Formats: sequence, structure tokens, C-alpha cells
Amino acid sequence: MEKSPSHIGIIMDGNGRWAEKRGLIRTQGHLEGLKTAKRIVKAASELGVKYLTLYAFSTENWKRASEEVSFIMNLVKQYLRAEFEFSRQNRIRTRYAGDMAALPPDIQKELRQSIEDTGSFDGMQVILAINYGGRDEIVRSVRKFYQNNQGMNISEKDISLYLDNPDIPDPDLIIRTAGEYRTSNFLLWQGAYSELYISEKMWPEWEKEDLEEAIASFQNRERRYGGIKTR
Ligand code: FPP
Repeated sequence: MEKSPSHIGIIMDGNGRWAEKRGLIRTQGHLEGLKTAKRIVKAASELGVKYLTLYAFSTENWKRASEEVSFIMNLVKQYLRAEFEFSRQNRIRTRYAGDMAALPPDIQKELRQSIEDTGSFDGMQVILAINYGGRDEIVRSVRKFYQNNQGMNISEKDISLYLDNPDIPDPDLIIRTAGEYRTSNFLLWQGAYSELYISEKMWPEWEKEDLEEAIASFQNRERRYGGIKTR
């Protein structure tokens, strides 16, 4: 049996299409998407995943209708509040990736609280990517580097060190649902050698079995990191 992925990133796509196909409004799809996120966090923790990054809101998602944006923000709040007991029981630690300063103050407060309350938990780490963009993260990293190291040459290692969560290993596997073959600005730096898995199912339809299938597909792949196969 090949190694299990330690860090999985998920682009949770297809909430809107799932709703539209059923004659429902888009926000209904996000509501189902939140239920799926809870289901998959539980499943990933049971399957021994160590880090799970969920792309909940991108730096580009602000272009959506303001009602949809505030609906998603409220779901984030609900998730953080309602999941504390589950996180406590399963030792799940909340982390954050993105530019928190641009989030509504109440969401920032809720996020900080959850990060603090779960900070000592030693189970799976759930990294919520909210107002996250891979390019934005790299720009912020370079800026932070130059704030601390004026006039120096910057290296790959320096950029890695100033990313949002430098202690978290790069994702082994990036999953995207709803059949789109794009990474959409998700973990651009860290995902350089990640294996990609595209699922045709819409995010609200995802179950533990789908995650198991994605992990099994990962385990059948040969990772060479630009090198050649060692025999
Ligand atoms: C993509 O579907 C989904 C989003 C932009 C929002 C995802 C947010 C959640 C699932 C809720 C919050 C989750 C957590 C973990 C706090 P889409 O709207 O782009 O779907 P479409 O491409 O079919 O229109």
C-alpha cells in the first residue's frame, strides 16, 4: 500500500450548479456545501489525514452578488461556532490561510476565537482558506520578507518561510469537484508538485466514499518531483 496523503487541499466547486439543477437558489447550494464540508472534515479525520485545506472563498469571489457573499460569510461563522464541540472531541485544530484583514470584523473575530480555542488540539488541522488567493499569498510573502530584510536577494526558501502557514507541509493531493480542470489560484506555491484529482460530482454530493476513492487514486500514482523513477 502506497503512502496516504498527509495534506489534502479541496476546491469545493459546484454548489451553485447543484442548486440550479434542482430549481433552487444558489445559496441553497452553499448551505448543502457547508453540510458536505462538515461530513468531509469528519471523514478525513477518520481516515487519518493530518492537514485538510478547504478553499471556502477566493480573493476573486468578492465579484459575486453581495447577498451571496454575505451568505457564505455567515456560513463560515456558523461552521466555526457549531463545530467547536466536534473539534474538541476529535482534537481538530482550526487554521487560516488568506488575507484576514479584508474579512468582515465579526468573521475575523470568530476565526481568531476558533484558532485560539483549538490551538492546543493535536488531531487533524483544518485550514480554512477564506479571502485566499495563491498569487496574493505570494505577494504578501515577498512584502513581508522585504519588510524584514531590506536590500537582500530573495530565495525560494524565503518565499516559503513567509507564506501564511510555513509549518504546514505542501499538499500531497489537491481535489477539485464539479469537473473543472483548473486550480483557480489555490495553493499556487505549495501545489507545485501536488497530485490533482478531479471529481465530476458537485461538492454537495460528495461523501466519505468519494474521499476514499480520491485517496486510493493518489496511492496508485508515482510521484517523481521532476526526477526519474528510482528502481
Ligand atoms: C464554489 O461553488 C463554492 C464556493 C465559492 C463557496 C464554498 C463555501 C462553502 C461550502 C461554505 C463554507 C465552508 C466552510 C468550510 C466554512 P460555486 O458557487 O462556484 O458553484 P458553481 O461553480 O456551480 O456556480
